[in-house]
Amino acid sequence: MAESREGLVVRPMRLEDVEVAEQISAEAFLQVDRATRRATDPEPERRPAARSQRWIDRTSSLLATDGPGCWVADLDGRTVGMATSLRRETLWALATFAVLPDAQGGIGRPLLEAALQHSVGCLRGMLSSSSDPRAVRRYLAAGFDLHPQMVMTGQVDRSAAPSLRGVREATPGDLDELDSLDRRVRGAGRGHDHLLLAQTGRAMVVTDRASSGYVYVGDTGSVLALAATDRRTASRLLWAAISRSDGEVEVPHVTGANQWALRVGLDAGLTVRTEGYLGVRGMKPPAPYLHHGALL
Ligand SMILES: CC(C)(COP(=O)(O)OP(=O)(O)OC[C@H]1O[C@@H](n2cnc3c(N)ncnc32)[C@H](O)[C@@H]1OP(=O)(O)O)[C@@H](O)C(=O)NCCC(=O)NCCS
Repeated sequence: MAESREGLVVRPMRLEDVEVAEQISAEAFLQVDRATRRATDPEPERRPAARSQRWIDRTSSLLATDGPGCWVADLDGRTVGMATSLRRETLWALATFAVLPDAQGGIGRPLLEAALQHSVGCLRGMLSSSSDPRAVRRYLAAGFDLHPQMVMTGQVDRSAAPSLRGVREATPGDLDELDSLDRRVRGAGRGHDHLLLAQTGRAMVVTDRASSGYVYVGDTGSVLALAATDRRTASRLLWAAISRSDGEVEVPHVTGANQWALRVGLDAGLTVRTEGYLGVRGMKPPAPYLHHGALL
């Protein structure tokens, strides 16, 4: 336990804290959405119930696998902040980090320090930062390099889509190959996080002799994560993911190292804008790779 701001106690998260932690994160991110909203954006809304439940399920699962990486902050007995993180092989990743807007100031720092204890011995670190200048300051101070992220949105024009031959639905038998691919692209396997991803999105894979890759796409047309051995396979998988939807698609977390994804977005008629940063420590932004916001 650590104590800094008067009345503040940072302590390990327990299962009964997860629902409050979800509310803290929903509240804090709504504040960021309001503060960073562009004039043409719709009015930001609080996280919908289905996404809240997915957040709770994922965090409960993280707590079981990565208890020492998950912390909350109590101020005068009220839980006001949370940080969750995970270790996969030699990689540490920050899943969520948030403090209630009315309590911010001096709480994030001890919380992040507690979560970072879970990174001891890890060679690499990754996080997906919001545009909140407070978060940016904390991550830079913790030794992360920040790389701007882009998000592509819109209706897909399929006329330029390449042949999607060889792209198929993933099966449980693909897990080992997907893990080797993660090791090759980002230096660490995802392990059972593939099962978590499969619960929130549909997985498609390419497993040719010379190339392989995977993509997860959510039911609302949002690309959740993608990795591939090469840019051509990555582009095919991204096309397969976005071609499935008749409505709006969203491809978040595109870093400058992934220009291939911008090419796909351009050919598909999507709109590009910047949003937040990929933070990395001990590694370069992975490519061809689109990271997951929490499982990285
Ligand atoms: C990010 C967050 C968890 C940090 O919690 P906090 O209690 O505000 O954090 P701290 O006060 O310990 O650290 C914030 C730092 O930013 C500085 N800061 C505050 N406002 C700032 C501003 N407008 N511009 C630049 N720096 C600012 C603070 O002085 C502090 O730096 P210091 O410790 O060197 O003085 C919290 O602000 C939050 O929940 N933000 C919204 C959700 C979010 O973006 N989470 C991270 C997403 S990955």
